Amino acid sequence: MSAPVSTVNDAVLAALATVNDPEIRRPITELGMVRSAEVGEDGVVRVELLLTVAGCPLKDKLRSDITAAVGAVSGVSGVEIEFGVMSTEQRQELQAKLRGGGATEEPVIPFAQPGSRTRVYAVASGKGGVGKSSVTVNLAAALAARGLSVGVVDADIYGHSVPRMLGADGRPTRVEDMIMPPQAHGVKVISIGMFTAGNAAVVWRGPMLHRALQQFLADVYWGDLDVLLLDLPPGTGDVAISLAQLLPNAEILVVTTPQAAAAEVAERAGAIALQTHQRVVGVIENMSWLELPDGSRMEIFGAGGGQTVADSLTQTIGASVPLLGQVPLDTRVREAGDEGNPIVLAEPDSPASKALGQVADRLALRRESLLGKPLGLKPTGR
Ligand SMILES: Nc1ncnc2c1ncn2[C@@H]1O[C@H](COP(=O)(O)OP(=O)(O)OP(=O)(O)O)[C@@H](O)[C@H]1O
Ligand SMILES: [Mg+2]
Repeated sequence: MSAPVSTVNDAVLAALATVNDPEIRRPITELGMVRSAEVGEDGVVRVELLLTVAGCPLKDKLRSDITAAVGAVSGVSGVEIEFGVMSTEQRQELQAKLRGGGATEEPVIPFAQPGSRTRVYAVASGKGGVGKSSVTVNLAAALAARGLSVGVVDADIYGHSVPRMLGADGRPTRVEDMIMPPQAHGVKVISIGMFTAGNAAVVWRGPMLHRALQQFLADVYWGDLDVLLLDLPPGTGDVAISLAQLLPNAEILVVTTPQAAAAEVAERAGAIALQTHQRVVGVIENMSWLELPDGSRMEIFGAGGGQTVADSLTQTIGASVPLLGQVPLDTRVREAGDEGNPIVLAEPDSPASKALGQVADRLALRRESLLGKPLGLKPTGR
């Protein structure tokens, strides 16, 4: 024999540690999935692997990943894998591990913990139909394309259009009572629409909404996110209040159209932040203009709404609320949304995509740009 068995053993374990569970995206060794791994006299490695659920659809992927990783270890002549299924107890252990601690009574929202480095943006508007969901999915896709780890919560319990717009048609899977969110374009998505049959309308009252939102935040395994975006329902209702309680550190991103009436209600939605002590990160004006074939701009919904909201919120809140971008009207925004392929990916060079991309850049950078800098807080009443 060339290498001592113990050395081969160590190398095999190291190789197994490079294999991630395709769904949970953490090493199978860390997840307690490797029950045993033995190197035989003949150099054949026998791995006993515990799946989280029986009939796991990702079994084949695991098999090929493990075979490739272990097969590459020198001294190994073959790999045999035997699949088993975790016991209820083992699943509970895994779940506690995924939660990052022991089981607790009150669901723990990782993003609300003091040390959380996830930036949380809640996309809000006063009026419906101004493009919140379109903005949310495009920002999410743009941020993921920049290499960030991104999650989206469709908190519009009644509207739930996010999964379709992102093309996330997968169903969440369960490991005990943790929920694995489906992914599309590198974005993890969870929506109430994924838990209801077909297109059934959901009629839920405040406390149930609160519970649903809490579950989305606490029981979904998001992993280590850079950015979490929440698509809120229009207005200043139950969900906005729940959100302020569950995620006091969420920052509000206000979407409006250029129209004066829309701007007024958007201001109100933004001003709620004053009561909830949440920060308003900025305003996005959507449907700003339509570019005509001759290059001129037709201002279908008027002009100035976004700037008006930004100025007025700056006044009310007493902190700078910038206008982050103006997104023109473009039929491709809608088409891309209908196809589940956000315009920032489908038509990255379109003016709408560029505007959305610039907003994404600012949202991605903001935290770092504040690092080590004084916040420059001044007493109010300049
Ligand atoms: N810049 C744009 N250009 C063209 N169409 C757009 C643009 N932004 C949004 N739309 C379209 O306008 C409609 C409303 O947009 P969206 O659903 O994103 O708004 P919303 O604020 O989330 O609405 P709701 O209040 O119903 O949740 C959609 O059909 C969408 O495709
Ligand atoms: Mg919407």
